Amino acid sequence: MHLRPYRDDDAAATLDVFHRAIRLLASRDYTAEQVDAWASPDIDPVVWAGRRAAARTQVAEADGRVVGFTDVDEDGYVDMLFVEPDVARQGVGSALLRWARATAVELGAHELTTNASLTARPAFEAHGFVVVAEQHPVLRGVELTNFRMRCDLGPGPGAAAG
Ligand SMILES: CC(C)(COP(=O)(O)OP(=O)(O)OC[C@H]1O[C@@H](n2cnc3c(N)ncnc32)[C@H](O)[C@@H]1OP(=O)(O)O)[C@@H](O)C(=O)NCCC(=O)NCCS
Repeated sequence: MHLRPYRDDDAAATLDVFHRAIRLLASRDYTAEQVDAWASPDIDPVVWAGRRAAARTQVAEADGRVVGFTDVDEDGYVDMLFVEPDVARQGVGSALLRWARATAVELGAHELTTNASLTARPAFEAHGFVVVAEQHPVLRGVELTNFRMRCDLGPGPGAAAG
């Protein structure tokens, strides 16, 4: 397994991982109605592709197949973290989170933040994130539970030493 930047031809594969991760992994923590609202069949593939390309997306690839993806912005916000269920619990999510951390540091961010699902919360906690607030966003008319989480990256390059 290795990580590489997202390419335009990864759009369908990342959307497939997104759907499968929610339907096969997150479904243990969310109702069928919540899963349908989140992994909606109505997601427009063109809008999806545009967002992934714009979001500094990094993919995990194994044997030529996309098995996970994440992203991070210059403020350290991680929007997406999804792993193919076939390879869950094998360190793919951790590798992606290590990339997000290193990239955020390079970009000068002082913290990592995310809105973590019930399912992803333990993975973020394993990487030093703490819960800031429980949230109840409404997605396509259905209320879900997630957690605002953050992780300190330490003082930035401009901070005084000693
Ligand atoms: C969350 C997710 C990305 C984790 O990916 P993963 O590749 O399985 O994660 P890793 O194998 O790197 O696990 C890292 C650590 O996270 C924790 N963890 C991951 N899955 C866990 C689970 N099901 N239960 C408890 N802890 C878990 C563990 O501490 C694990 O370390 P360990 O295996 O050495 O004990 C994946 O489960 C997923 O795609 N979930 C569904 C989609 C989702 O909710 N995405 C997040 C949206 S905010």
